[in-house]
Amino acid sequence: MQFDSKLPDVGTTIFTVMSRRALEEGAVNLGQGFPDYPIDPRLSQALIDVVAEGRNQYAPMEGVIELRQQIAGKLQVSYALDVDPQTEITVTCGGTEALYDAVQAVVRTGDEVIIFDPAYDSYEPAVRLAGGRCVRIPLQPPAFRFDWERVQGALTDHTRLIIINSPQNPSCSVADASDLESLAALIRDRPISLLADEVYEHVLYDGRRHASVLAHPELRGRSFAVFSFGKTLHATGWRIGYCVAPPAMTTELRKVHQFNTFSIVAPLQHAVARYLEHFPDAWTGLSAFFETKRDLLAGLLRGSGFEPLPAAGTYFQLVDYGALSREADAGFAERLVREAKVATIPLSPFYAAPPAMTLLRLCIAKRDETLRAAAERLRHFAAGIRERV
Ligand SMILES: Cc1ncc(COP(=O)(O)O)c(C=O)c1O
Repeated sequence: MQFDSKLPDVGTTIFTVMSRRALEEGAVNLGQGFPDYPIDPRLSQALIDVVAEGRNQYAPMEGVIELRQQIAGKLQVSYALDVDPQTEITVTCGGTEALYDAVQAVVRTGDEVIIFDPAYDSYEPAVRLAGGRCVRIPLQPPAFRFDWERVQGALTDHTRLIIINSPQNPSCSVADASDLESLAALIRDRPISLLADEVYEHVLYDGRRHASVLAHPELRGRSFAVFSFGKTLHATGWRIGYCVAPPAMTTELRKVHQFNTFSIVAPLQHAVARYLEHFPDAWTGLSAFFETKRDLLAGLLRGSGFEPLPAAGTYFQLVDYGALSREADAGFAERLVREAKVATIPLSPFYAAPPAMTLLRLCIAKRDETLRAAAERLRHFAAGIRERV
């Protein structure tokens, strides 16, 4: 039998591909976004404790109540929000599952979903599997700002969902309060829901503050907001995320969630809950932590030919290699992993129609030694190119 793919053009994600290439080449991996330093030992200990205590059976479908209460407390501290853990918070398998569930809960055959390029790679496949179609609008370089007039022009009677991501991966740009105002005005009289990917909510630089859709009263009433303890607790492999949405939307999201993963690893949920109970400010220093790393890497690369772009948030740093080569980014990234022994992520896979650009994404969630080693290799590689020219 010939098997007919529902996603014929979707291959293995660029993150997996580059991590595999990094292993094959023995390269320093600044590609896929994950820390190479240990998690807080107190979080590890919490997991050991809850397993020993026997919290090893199915968790409730919507998430263990202790964790949902901690999340509600965190939302209160972060954004002065009153969120009901019973009806408005669902624990998911990472932010990825929350994104997928929200899309399945909203999008029907023929619906249009607006997303912004460069876009995180899970959005479009989720929309297509739901029978919808993505309308992709580029963020405006060089600062990757929203063009709200263009969004207005793209709205149709079929538009059902807009997905925004702030802080934005991979552009490292951040939406501000005026962006949320513009968005609210555009969708005010339309039956459009919002899916806000806020997994980098605590990683904003230079004194910026995160503008959560949840803190915007009008947007909150029609939004799924997605968060990730993978990012917040440096534990991407734990796959603990959550979605906050009004009760009626949460009910629909949970219908998808319960037949997707049903419930999330019980001891991991209990461990995060216990950790936050004892260390409720565990996440408050994240911006400063990553800002130091951003400044370290950017400082080491400036003037090398890999020019750092301004980064307002996320744990990534874009660099422009245009002074070294006009080669397309995928080929150049492959050359870097092979010859410089540094894995990076090209930007073109984040676009439906990639513009001509010479940008690579580097992950800064790495030990300082890793960042120094990568910068040293990149500088050496760039110097080699410059000598030959
Ligand atoms: C923008 C964005 N959204 C969602 C996710 C997925 O988060 P999680 O690892 O919690 O599934 C990521 C992870 O890299 C991300 O960068």
